[in-house]
Amino acid sequence: MQRAQAHLDMMPKVPPPCLLVIFGASGDLTHRKLVPALFDLYCAGQLSERFAVLGISRTPMSSESFRDRLAASGALHDRDATKWAAFARCLHYHAGDPTSAEAYPPIKQQMAELAGQHATGGNVLFYLAVAPQIHEPLMRQLAAAGMVDQGRTRTRPSDHRPWQRLIVEKPFGFDTDSAAQLQRAIGSVFPERCIYRIDHFLGKEMVQNLLVFRFANAIFEPIWNQHYIDNVQLTAAETVGVEGRGSYYDSHGGGALRDMIQSHLLQVMALVAMEPPVSMSAADVRNEKTKVLAATAIVRPDQVPQMAVRGQYGPGQVAGQAVAGYRSEPGIDPASQTETYATLRLSIDTWRWGGVPFYLRCGKRMARKLTEVVVTFKQTPHCLFKERARSLRPNQIVVNLQPDEGISLRFAGKVPGAGMSIRDVVMDFDYIEHFHAEPPDAYTALLLEAMRGDQTLFKHRDQAAYCWGIVQPILDWWHAEPPEDFPNYAASTWGPSSSDVMLGRDNRQWHQP
Ligand code: BG6
Repeated sequence: MQRAQAHLDMMPKVPPPCLLVIFGASGDLTHRKLVPALFDLYCAGQLSERFAVLGISRTPMSSESFRDRLAASGALHDRDATKWAAFARCLHYHAGDPTSAEAYPPIKQQMAELAGQHATGGNVLFYLAVAPQIHEPLMRQLAAAGMVDQGRTRTRPSDHRPWQRLIVEKPFGFDTDSAAQLQRAIGSVFPERCIYRIDHFLGKEMVQNLLVFRFANAIFEPIWNQHYIDNVQLTAAETVGVEGRGSYYDSHGGGALRDMIQSHLLQVMALVAMEPPVSMSAADVRNEKTKVLAATAIVRPDQVPQMAVRGQYGPGQVAGQAVAGYRSEPGIDPASQTETYATLRLSIDTWRWGGVPFYLRCGKRMARKLTEVVVTFKQTPHCLFKERARSLRPNQIVVNLQPDEGISLRFAGKVPGAGMSIRDVVMDFDYIEHFHAEPPDAYTALLLEAMRGDQTLFKHRDQAAYCWGIVQPILDWWHAEPPEDFPNYAASTWGPSSSDVMLGRDNRQWHQP
């Protein structure tokens, strides 16, 4: 199987030259995601020849050791050694504390040298891959050191003049107030058109495909509304636990609601529920998504117990191996009340979606790794086959975002033979089988689009604010009313039974993958 190559070949033209300055370069993200994605782009001829990376972190090391550490990381183990040797020449490193003023004169000097050496034409993409508490002090120092050139942040992609842009990794704050404060800190240095807030789900191939599925086909859009759809379910289930991120996950910034729903699942919901945009421009697509989030009903405190479920995993078995419960993981408070599972029942108050519940659920240590969107249609107004359809279920479209990317449609079919026996049948589109390639990693698309200056796949500041507004009442209620039943689901199951009860109250049930 071709690793992403076929798709990268189909991706748009090579982006302009640039210097990518990664703050937090010794961290996991740079090793696991950013550099492997850049290398994939390089191998596919999708990176300008006039491109360089300057990695910045506190860890003292040379550029040589930086390259060696990257080469040794798991994500690059099957790389082509010759291509890597050529690519690695563009990787550079500088040791410094990005929250201290003294760090910046040498960084500035090295940036100027690299811009000359690699002929990057003055374009700079800053990447904040640092711990969230460093975002604000770093922005202050960056501005104070005169690193951000107001002339270049005003450049539009079509101007063909040197530009400066900023990529910010999640978490974007830990609640409504901190997100607004962070926005003020960033927004006072970079205008919105230069800020690229990463939500890596938006770079996933099948998440992008949601727009194509809905708006490049004539058959789905007419029935994509409350007249035909009964409910929509979004699931992001993971088999892993907190994987060495315990101290962050268990802090006031962690938990399933913040980590997955506030960010990723609300973005997916916006794509599923948005109106057709006037064009595919970043502004038009992002405006339509923002409207969905603005129309999402805010849950009142007294509704929280009915509209939200939280869970925390206890010990269990994963693939025959015993695994620890959340409270026994490294870095976790043995009495922790952090949720590793969350379900929300949301309503979008528009003509299209009035009365259609959107159920969002995510969890760690669940029975399977799976991210899917399940759209369940209403029953036919009158059933002619009641007698013959033993277990006829409503029509369903399942979009498998990962793994086993694809789309399936469930409908009723006649069982062959005499008489009229009816059964559910499924029509499948399997992404890998059809395109003979695995989907590329989300970061290849995101880095490419940021270099090209297209913000479609990035969150607008208003979206970040609305998403916090949606989850804040639940976070507040959960904080005020500590859970009494944690841990309430065993590792490797589908979460607490209260989540099934929640759907049961609506006479519905979770899709069984
Ligand atoms: C991250 C979360 O944003 O997404 C992690 O912080 C989670 O907790 C991850 O594991 C899931 O991403 P993916 O691409 O593996 O589904």
